[in-house]
Amino acid sequence: MSKSVIKAVIPAAGLGTRFLPATKATPKEMLPIVDKPAIQYVVEEAAASGLHDVLIIIGRNKGNIVDHFDSVPELEQTLHKKGDNTKLGMVKDASDIADVHFLRQGQPLGLGHAVGRAEQHVGQESFAVLLGDDLIDARDPLLPTMIAEHDARGATIIALMEVPQEQIHMYGCAAVEPTENSEVVRITSLVEKPTAAEAPSNLAVIGRYVLRPEIFELLAKQEPGRGGEIQLTDALNTLARGEAGESAGPVYGVIFRGRRYDTGDKGDWIKANVQVGIESPGVGDDLKAWLKEFAAQL
Ligand code: G1P
Repeated sequence: MSKSVIKAVIPAAGLGTRFLPATKATPKEMLPIVDKPAIQYVVEEAAASGLHDVLIIIGRNKGNIVDHFDSVPELEQTLHKKGDNTKLGMVKDASDIADVHFLRQGQPLGLGHAVGRAEQHVGQESFAVLLGDDLIDARDPLLPTMIAEHDARGATIIALMEVPQEQIHMYGCAAVEPTENSEVVRITSLVEKPTAAEAPSNLAVIGRYVLRPEIFELLAKQEPGRGGEIQLTDALNTLARGEAGESAGPVYGVIFRGRRYDTGDKGDWIKANVQVGIESPGVGDDLKAWLKEFAAQL
């Protein structure tokens, strides 16, 4: 495992407006996918990729994210007394996955601002960023490949995925050149949420990044972009275009072709629950049989 990348940053300070009213008092990251809050899958992915130091950037109303990764002695004692070791294990798992730290974003100025806030924890090291709206199936590991590419090329690495043209407006989009490896491209520029006509390709940025510490200086001077927010994509575009100087290094994309679940809005979240539920022991068989029956009536 890489020694160069040991920290993961998970921005979780968004207001979750696409999920109102569910997110009025509950952070969207705590909405469950089957039986675990979405953010737990993301912390598990970081830990499984060798990143055991996880910083979650939180905003207002995010107290129960902090609680979820803490131990709960009363509940643990009750389950222990009952001899319910399965449930006890599940409760303990969440607090044992990684060394989880929290930092408040302060002001909700955008993803780029949230990532910039991580500097005080990350320092002058490369680090990974994982966005909670994208769940990557544990059977199709992506981050370890990205970290290996970062180590081999000394470069910033972004995860990309081919999406249909009518969906590109929901993502950052990359203009690319091929490399010697068909699964890795050199990114020449990036644009945040372009229209289908403006999009330079069908390659969407999915929420996994391996960043070099030079990004902090770029984020600190990044002007607001799309939606009036400080965009990570815009700072990465400066890097990709070579405008940040030689030493900041190039930007490469790793093309992901595995299973990814989008949990970004209500419809996607329901689909993610069905996709993950179908594979879940104790839930999957029943759900599959019911879905077939239900679909036949539609
Ligand atoms: C963010 C990024 C965008 C990326 C997307 C992936 O957008 O700004 O570049 O494609 O995540 O999920 P958001 O979905 O937070 O609006």
